[in-house]
Amino acid sequence: MSESALEMSQLERVDPATVRQLPLPGGAMMPAAAYGTFHSDWAQDLMKDATVEAIRLGWRHLDTARAYENESIVGDAIRESIAKGYIDSVDDLFITGKLWNGHMAPKDVAPALESTLEALGVDKIDLYLNHWPWPNVHTPGCGGDHRNPDAVPYIHEAFMETWSEILALKKAGKIVDVGTSNHTRACMELLLRDVSEADRPVANQMEMHPLMQSTDLRRYFDSENIVCTGYMALGSPRRPARDRFKTHRSDMEDPVIQAIAAECGVSVGSVCLAWAIQREQGRGGFVAMATNPGRIRDNLMCATQEILSPEQVLRISGDGSDDFPGIDADIRLIQGQVFLWPETDSDWRVLWDDSQVFETRENYAAFKVSFNAHQVVRTTTCFNGDRSL
Ligand SMILES: NC(=O)c1ccc[n+]([C@@H]2O[C@H](COP(=O)([O-])OP(=O)(O)OC[C@H]3O[C@@H](n4cnc5c(N)ncnc54)[C@H](OP(=O)(O)O)[C@@H]3O)[C@@H](O)[C@H]2O)c1
Repeated sequence: MSESALEMSQLERVDPATVRQLPLPGGAMMPAAAYGTFHSDWAQDLMKDATVEAIRLGWRHLDTARAYENESIVGDAIRESIAKGYIDSVDDLFITGKLWNGHMAPKDVAPALESTLEALGVDKIDLYLNHWPWPNVHTPGCGGDHRNPDAVPYIHEAFMETWSEILALKKAGKIVDVGTSNHTRACMELLLRDVSEADRPVANQMEMHPLMQSTDLRRYFDSENIVCTGYMALGSPRRPARDRFKTHRSDMEDPVIQAIAAECGVSVGSVCLAWAIQREQGRGGFVAMATNPGRIRDNLMCATQEILSPEQVLRISGDGSDDFPGIDADIRLIQGQVFLWPETDSDWRVLWDDSQVFETRENYAAFKVSFNAHQVVRTTTCFNGDRSL
């Protein structure tokens, strides 16, 4: 879809008042459908016009991040939407922002938020998420074999120093609500253990789509009154090459999704998003990106109505019975290999299985010593012990 096609779209708007809202513990209401703004590798040139079109069509929740390298483009889109009368002011929007890994050192947190606010053209952000549980950076647009030798696991002591800075900015009125993204259960248990009621995260953004449902983790967050929104809710068909693996399958090509789409007379994309809205008693939301005006509109419509019957939701979710096995296949699109630290032994599953989560820097240092000693023994004793990490 070209920029001019976006500019020429005459599609009828969706009334934002009809979009499902999710109550956050602090009292704010968050639109369940968030318009994703990441796709720097192929859609950056389209992002301003696509975001303006999304706002014109009725999207009121924008999902942004410093890592997407386009906050000022989103800011331009917001300013243009106000100028064109699509919204009265930025107060009509709910904006999610994210603290990038490279800015998690305590001294960098406040300047990072300032830069985000300035680029977006707002004086406060509705929801500020800690983007990843660890401060590991990768270069923008890097390949899947990128490794950062300074990468580290989750160290709770360090995370809490970052979290304190985020909380200070909330107390200063620059953030309305705080949350996490990509947090695992162990990381969240440690965080919740050490914060007061007022300082808890209200939301966690995580990968969720029909072939990667994360139901147990989702239910744990729900039980803690943490609202979950699922990113890559359509299965991210144009994700970067570094996030494509032989084991992956396409959510929108799954036979169950296709059959339900035919039954409902809607697109396969709409089935994925309707399921995201209706599953688990409708307590969560989705983040979806589109540049095609028709898809921008259809995707928002999924949060205005119950497209799926309870039986259709069950055919996707499953309930453990023979009748309803569901289609979850644990197909993680962002494996996160570019964030691996040396002791993961190149196994991306360590990022997600909580086998290397540390309370203190001292704990991790002791683990590292032991790991390195083990490596020496391995390389000098095992027949195949010198495989690289
Ligand atoms: N917190 C995190 O760590 C994290 C990680 C990844 C992503 N995110 C957020 O999640 C957002 C969504 O992720 P994503 O963009 O990778 O994946 P996605 O929303 O699942 O997929 C977007 C792609 O799907 C296409 N599409 C959109 N609607 C469609 C429909 N109804 N039918 C068929 N195709 C459709 C779009 O094509 P067209 O553009 O041609 O319309 C676009 O290529 C990002 O933009 C970002 O805001 C967050």
